[in-house]
Amino acid sequence: MRGNGPEAPAARTEITEAEIAAHWKEESLLPPPPEFVSQANMRDPAARERFSRERFPDCFREYADLLRWDRPFERVLASDRAPFYRWFVGGRLNASTNCIDRHLPLHADKPAILFQPEPAEAPPVAISYRELHRRVNEMAALLRDHCRLVAGDRVTIHMPMVPELPITMLACARLGLVHSVVFGGFSGEAAGRRAADSGSRVLVTSDAFWRNGVLVDHFAQAEGAVVAAREGGQEIDTVLIWSREPGRSLSRTPELPGRDTRIDDLLGRYSGRTVEPVAMDSEAPLFLMYTSGTTGRPKGCQHSTGGYLSYVAGTSRAILDLRPEDVYWCMADIGWITGHSYIVYGPLALGAATVLYEGLPTFPDPGRPWRIAKQLGVGVFHTSPTAIRQLRRLGPEEPRKYGCRFRLLVTVGEPIEPEAWRWYYREVGGGRAVVVDTWWQTETGGILCATWPALDAMKPGSTGPGAPGIHPVVLDEHGQEIPAGEGRAGNICIPHPWPGLMQTIWGDPDRYVEQYFRKYNRDPASKDWRAWPYFAGDGALLAADGYVRILGRVDDVINVAGHRLGAKEIESACLMVPEVAEAAVVPVADELKGRVPVVFVALHHGVTEPPGEVARRVVLAVETAIGKIARPKAVHVVPDMPKTRSGKILRRVLAGISNGSDTGDTSTLANPEVVERIVAQLQSTRPATKEDGPQETEGTP
Ligand code: WT7
Repeated sequence: MRGNGPEAPAARTEITEAEIAAHWKEESLLPPPPEFVSQANMRDPAARERFSRERFPDCFREYADLLRWDRPFERVLASDRAPFYRWFVGGRLNASTNCIDRHLPLHADKPAILFQPEPAEAPPVAISYRELHRRVNEMAALLRDHCRLVAGDRVTIHMPMVPELPITMLACARLGLVHSVVFGGFSGEAAGRRAADSGSRVLVTSDAFWRNGVLVDHFAQAEGAVVAAREGGQEIDTVLIWSREPGRSLSRTPELPGRDTRIDDLLGRYSGRTVEPVAMDSEAPLFLMYTSGTTGRPKGCQHSTGGYLSYVAGTSRAILDLRPEDVYWCMADIGWITGHSYIVYGPLALGAATVLYEGLPTFPDPGRPWRIAKQLGVGVFHTSPTAIRQLRRLGPEEPRKYGCRFRLLVTVGEPIEPEAWRWYYREVGGGRAVVVDTWWQTETGGILCATWPALDAMKPGSTGPGAPGIHPVVLDEHGQEIPAGEGRAGNICIPHPWPGLMQTIWGDPDRYVEQYFRKYNRDPASKDWRAWPYFAGDGALLAADGYVRILGRVDDVINVAGHRLGAKEIESACLMVPEVAEAAVVPVADELKGRVPVVFVALHHGVTEPPGEVARRVVLAVETAIGKIARPKAVHVVPDMPKTRSGKILRRVLAGISNGSDTGDTSTLANPEVVERIVAQLQSTRPATKEDGPQETEGTP
């Protein structure tokens, strides 16, 4: 089944993010503050030895030992079906027991979740481990007895940032159901397409949430989800709706009796019920997380129970330095992998208190995050470069006003400019906190590169060396390793498996092999992991000291504010507008969001619609198919696309024009004259549409 596999290389976007990446100079090293080192989880240099190459794969036992196993595993790694791996084989465990039940003897009254609603006057809500246990059990009883779901069934969850989201995830985990959380900022249609792909007949959603001072009617998205799922061949027979305020309906969208049910109306029946957690095989899937790739169809990265949970617990301990006494805040949205791994599963597996903030970091003003952090006593803070840039721009002096005392500051999702890094370090951390820049991906489950906070010096603008047990390499196009310090960019690869690596692409194992392993595989018949380096799709430079600098995507993926969007997905949404004959989407550098999509469309002959009107419809089509997050910064209606003689659109040229950089060689174009016309058009006119109103970060990755 190769039909849905990646396109031939020639069909790919010919501009890479790496080509437009910021090229700041290499910075010097800063040692971690001694106050941090003296208290860190992983401060013994012997850790390097324990996680050395020679210790692979047994080093990861240390991570698995952080969990409670219902049945101990017999083997650390089974690689006989490489590149499909099984970790901690023979072991059985339940993710919800590991995140909740086992903390009860010591920490029942300690907060597990600290929920901060967006409205400025709303106080934070603490949910203790005991209460989390009760609520997860009741929801699990509902899913089992009311929805008749059994281990292995998939459940699509399309929700905003409220405690009921992790409660639903953990209730699924308790029963061995495979959750598929779709980012709340995606449209209902996007959620429905993912529900169809995963084969979910149950959709869990919410009525409303607060964002930027506005009460958003989220349930309005549900109908679109059901319709899109049906078009994809999947009937959603049950829609469960959480109420933002119990007992009240904040959505004005009508409910469909028989299909739609308020969870509040049902929960009473399950009050006080406990549900025996299902002991799952280590390699049973825990969840799917859809992400964009080089084709128009998002892929469902399938993550395992034992390997994934071990990996996020281990990295939360080693890199985020978390312990049960911690109050930890990651500002990402749970609807992205960062939220799964480092708001929900990692921190809760370690018994920490994890903060959940409903709204926009800059609401009602850019001092909000620092007031929340101070009030809740946050010691470890985690966000994205986009949020850092925005908070710095809107409130450069704010952090100092509130007297926060962070010991560790984490960043993830995009390269961070040294300037933004220094503001984070000096103004947010007061020079007393360690800053960790973590590089990883939806597919990788957890952090792959970062400085080890107590053992490595920090280098602004670079992520670190490999995380414990991870030994990254940078390969050239021929698969040759580029030696450290040579200054040549290549493709970052991980030459060995690790427990957090996804198991496969849901329903499409060929695409898993094709996308991530084919490029550098020398022998397709080999069943040895050494033959299958993992290709991440990012360009990178390896410095002499072993630190990695990530340059950006080498494929059609556009990283907007640390969120992945596929150029092809946006293009196919544009083509839904009947007047549009051709569409090309390119990443354009943006001061705040890193990259934003810019759309070029050519119209069918004879279309008389004004370009501004077509552009408006294109924006609407993108918002409907994907969500506001993919909203193009500009839509240019052009007379024709620059094309090769064989008729392929040269996006490289369009990206060059949009970024004000070189368009590269245009001599091979079939229609070189069109380049000048487009350049002239972009110079003379303002874009047909521009993002109006304040820019939204749509959460951090
Ligand atoms: C892509 C993965 C990791 C969770 C959030 C995004 C880019 C991620 C960094 C970083 C430079 C980074 C890469 C990667 N990226 N972290 N620290 N420095 N680039 O997960 O949506 O799967 O996106 O984000 O390009 O491939 P994702």
